[in-house]
Amino acid sequence: MPTPRTLEWIGDANGFVRLIDQTQLPTALAYRDCHTVEDVWEAIRSLRVRGAPAIGVAAAMGVVLGVQNCKDAAHYGERLQEVTSYLRTSRPTAVNLFWAVERMERCFQSECQTGTPQEWTQRLLAEALAIADEDRRMCRAIGAAGAHLIGDGQGVLTHCNAGGLATAEYGTALAVMFTAAEQGRRFHVYADETRPLLQGARLTAWELHQAGIPVTLICDSMAGQVMKEGRVQLVIVGADRIAANGDTANKIGTYSVALLAQAHGIPFYVAAPSSTFDLRLSNGDGIPIEQRDPREITHGFGRQTAPEGICVYNPAFDVTPHHLIAGIITEKGLIQPVCEEAIRALLE
Ligand code: MRU
Repeated sequence: MPTPRTLEWIGDANGFVRLIDQTQLPTALAYRDCHTVEDVWEAIRSLRVRGAPAIGVAAAMGVVLGVQNCKDAAHYGERLQEVTSYLRTSRPTAVNLFWAVERMERCFQSECQTGTPQEWTQRLLAEALAIADEDRRMCRAIGAAGAHLIGDGQGVLTHCNAGGLATAEYGTALAVMFTAAEQGRRFHVYADETRPLLQGARLTAWELHQAGIPVTLICDSMAGQVMKEGRVQLVIVGADRIAANGDTANKIGTYSVALLAQAHGIPFYVAAPSSTFDLRLSNGDGIPIEQRDPREITHGFGRQTAPEGICVYNPAFDVTPHHLIAGIITEKGLIQPVCEEAIRALLE
């Protein structure tokens, strides 16, 4: 396995969530135990656990933590609603969070009408574990569906972190790379550092290095030059939410990479499980874009790097229009061309 378990449930229905505290990487592989739904909310908000699928799994487990002490059958449903509404406020863009929380609500409605609160918590835990398990399987399938895209000797550029750390295990964009490497292909990855929180430098470079895949770290602003020098033949990134027409929200800077790829005639692929699609949105205009603390830019990693009181704009995601995307690699196969008809045909 290329990376250690991103997060897991420890113990029975009275147990807790143990996750890798990703804010400590790459210098420390530290674990954090979440015993309450508030702990999980904080871990999601502060990016201790991050990446769309991993956020979904964490939220599902957070639901279990939120109801595990409720022994009162009359108030259990009300408490569940309180917990799911609360978790929905942790981060807005990755649809996996909303998808997972909704799935937990549906599980309660369909499977918790008879029995005791203790049994309901056990059923909800089984659902959360199923979500994590499915995510692991989907990531493997994404790897298998996309590995052929990477040719021997190629340069592959990625942005942010769509690796094992961003999922229950194995990743999405990095799954494609892990599988291609397992199939014996040699290639070189260029990892954008991904300002302002450096998920590319701290997490992607760390994961690929651990897996023994050659990786070169570049600043985001170097991608154009690296492409112009002919070092990159393929771009693969992850996604936080994909609208029905294929418009894709991913980490801020992804849209710029897609435009650069188009300018240099380099195919730009997105890798994502079906839980990242939001078919209720016809296009990317409706995707909520998270705005984050200006201090991530002015005081990144504890050092002031901008004048006191300066005005800052800090959107955490952008939307790449579908016409810039050569294909979407899913666990069900490759969507190509990227259009509503092809997306619905594969997913529905
Ligand atoms: O803010 P983050 O670190 O949660 O952003 C993560 C990304 O943008 C990833 O590329 C995306 O979630 C795909 S993860 C398989």
